[in-house]
Amino acid sequence: MTKVITYGTFDLFHEGHYRLLQRARMLGDYLIVGVTTDKYDIERGKLNVVDSLMTRIENVKKTGFADEIIIEETQGQKVNDVKKYNIDIFTVGSDWTGIFDFMNDYCKVIYLERTKNISSTMLREQNRRILKAGIIGTGRIANRFMPEVKLVSGISAQGVYNPHQQSAKQFAQKWQINAYNDLEMLFHDVDVVYIASPHETHYGYVKASLEHGKHVLCEKPMVLAEKQAKELFNYAREHNLILFEGIKTAYCPGFEKLLGIACSGIIGSIRYIDACFTKLEQKNNRELLDKKYGGSFTELGSYCLLPIIKLFGEKYESIRFDVVHDESGLDIFTKASFTFTRGIATAFCGLGVKSEGRLLIAGTKGYIVVEAPWWKTTYFEVHYEDASQVDKYSERFLSDGLRYEIKDFLNMINRNNKSDFKLTRGESVAMAGIMEKFLIEEGRLT
Ligand code: CTP
Repeated sequence: MTKVITYGTFDLFHEGHYRLLQRARMLGDYLIVGVTTDKYDIERGKLNVVDSLMTRIENVKKTGFADEIIIEETQGQKVNDVKKYNIDIFTVGSDWTGIFDFMNDYCKVIYLERTKNISSTMLREQNRRILKAGIIGTGRIANRFMPEVKLVSGISAQGVYNPHQQSAKQFAQKWQINAYNDLEMLFHDVDVVYIASPHETHYGYVKASLEHGKHVLCEKPMVLAEKQAKELFNYAREHNLILFEGIKTAYCPGFEKLLGIACSGIIGSIRYIDACFTKLEQKNNRELLDKKYGGSFTELGSYCLLPIIKLFGEKYESIRFDVVHDESGLDIFTKASFTFTRGIATAFCGLGVKSEGRLLIAGTKGYIVVEAPWWKTTYFEVHYEDASQVDKYSERFLSDGLRYEIKDFLNMINRNNKSDFKLTRGESVAMAGIMEKFLIEEGRLT
């Protein structure tokens, strides 16, 4: 019996897929089809797959050509599959010609002529117009956003706004987009808005963007008051608009995996979380110059609050802030200590004190340590009472990682994702409430 294997995403199943599978089946007596998981597609940079894995598998099944369907979840799986399933022929479309020649060491490789003028990419583009994004703010984060947005299909940067004309111009020149010094003009030209301006301006910009019917992705902390967060989310919901707080960790694959493992019961019930994020800043950076809204907690608190709120919930019993101030009275190191009904947690943020950027999650049966920088969540270990037993997990985090939140934002707009479970409105509101409490205690808000 000649066994054949082929792989693909098979998104928006089309004639090219059908013909490929038909010919693959004819190459032998038994055809195995590997369908990629969503996570594997994200890892290899395919960020806008529309159909779920189950739908894609169903569509392959319906053709009747596959004798067996498996899932492809990791790089390097193909060679192992060839050995495991005693494969005689590996085949893919001619768009891959040459790329899989190395597989000749294990089985015969056949590239089948690709069907012309059809692809999933083409169908995705036809189904959806490209959303034009307006960027508000021209600082460091906006500069990180630009290369990342280019990697997500279905969205393109249209222009940038900054009340300081010169900054907008420079940014626009650097990234080859339009510069706007009139916000109304920007709103007129775009579908979605990305806000990366100073914290205290977020509320006004988010509100104005929503009132102009734009979907909004706003950098963290979205706002610094609970009431404002509630108001903005309610407005967005009532007007069918998507409002996302951009805490990149929440959307990255490693963090999703971490939450899954932490909640799986392998460390028992979670009783303690300790998250630390410090970064030494130059004295002349906005975070240290802005005496009202700057400082370590407003800058980094969102990251440290994220695992705490995700794992213990939005409602804490008590919160206490211990703060180290600089000579001007600004917090350069903040420890927020929480008690919850189920356990306790600490969040450490520093701009003027350096510590290890580690996340620890302790439970009744073991603990998880996420290696620094935990907010990129690439590697973590699970430890138990028996110190010789360690489970290790790793995940990729590509470049600045903003692509993950942009992709989820887009999927929500296009209704491919129907849930904001990675960072819910309630969680964002809770974080805004904690920021507000901190600023009040610091005497910066009345
Ligand atoms: N294929 C083909 N003819 C096409 C499109 C795809 O023969 N017009 C083949 C590919 O070469 C591959 C298989 O079908 O062997 C699955 O391809 P997949 O990547 O899922 O489909 P594409 O349409 O190429 O997807 P995308 O546009 O997202 O790259």
